[in-house]
Amino acid sequence: MTVRDPTATPRLGDDRDPGDRDPDPGDRDRDRDDDRDGDRDDTLAAEPPGDRERREPEVSSEPVRLHKLLAQAGVASRRASEELITEGRVEVDGLVVTELGTKVDPQTAVVRVDGARVPVGDRNRRHVYVIVHKPRGVISSMWDDEGRPDIPSLLPVKLARRTRLFHVGRLDQDTEGLLLLTDDGELTHRLTHPSFEVSKTYIAEVPGPVAKETVATVRGGVVVDGRTVAVERFRVVAATKNRAMVEITVHEGRKHVVRDLLDVSGMPVRRLVRVKLGPLALGDLPPGEYRELASAEVGTLYDLVGL
Ligand code: URA
Repeated sequence: MTVRDPTATPRLGDDRDPGDRDPDPGDRDRDRDDDRDGDRDDTLAAEPPGDRERREPEVSSEPVRLHKLLAQAGVASRRASEELITEGRVEVDGLVVTELGTKVDPQTAVVRVDGARVPVGDRNRRHVYVIVHKPRGVISSMWDDEGRPDIPSLLPVKLARRTRLFHVGRLDQDTEGLLLLTDDGELTHRLTHPSFEVSKTYIAEVPGPVAKETVATVRGGVVVDGRTVAVERFRVVAATKNRAMVEITVHEGRKHVVRDLLDVSGMPVRRLVRVKLGPLALGDLPPGEYRELASAEVGTLYDLVGL
């Protein structure tokens, strides 16, 4: 894993050498702001890898002792992992395993500790999973022909140059917040497939006050460009006389969907921040910074899309 200490403080463009980067022409093509696939979730489907790119390399599949696997996954020491097993806190493929010495196939087993998925297979080791806090003004692109600040400008060189690193989704240039980056093509493909209806939560600053009737109307769904956008959650989180902060959760990812939805509802957006993507939360990650996902977070993503 080439990701540096997630507690370190990368700054916009701090140690990236653009001249060093070998841009993948495929990335550039994928980054073009076109609308080739209208049904795909635009904020999640910015760079759906093709079938060829999604094919994972073959991995050998040798059964491994469960406590060893848990230790390798960083859950606990081998000794403590044995205790977890004997305490009945470990599940493999839906069954509690209490017998020490049990061997499992790390490539196929779904392992949980206290109900939380623990990624144990090769997939987790082979891939990088990172979130960035995209600041306003940065383009959701792995390469910008016009030299504007792009996603790699938020990353250290080693990570920025990692081939096949996708931004799983796209935020408008003016939108801030959580973007997931990974080189896991299968996960990207699944997360971007509309059938998984990955929820996205935004905080928007809009003119206030927001009337109760408006809240009720938005909750019922809003027609944008002739199609109803379902709203999973909508609430006013703060309000003064002239402005309000609203929280909105949608599944849809049509381009500009949140801005358009709020606009047609009488709330032109002044500022928009994505704070959640499925089970992932931006938390207190400062703008312009990134962090590697904890393995439990990767596990929740696998669970979400059935990996
Ligand atoms: N909806 C928008 O309007 N903008 C974004 O960046 C994402 C969702």
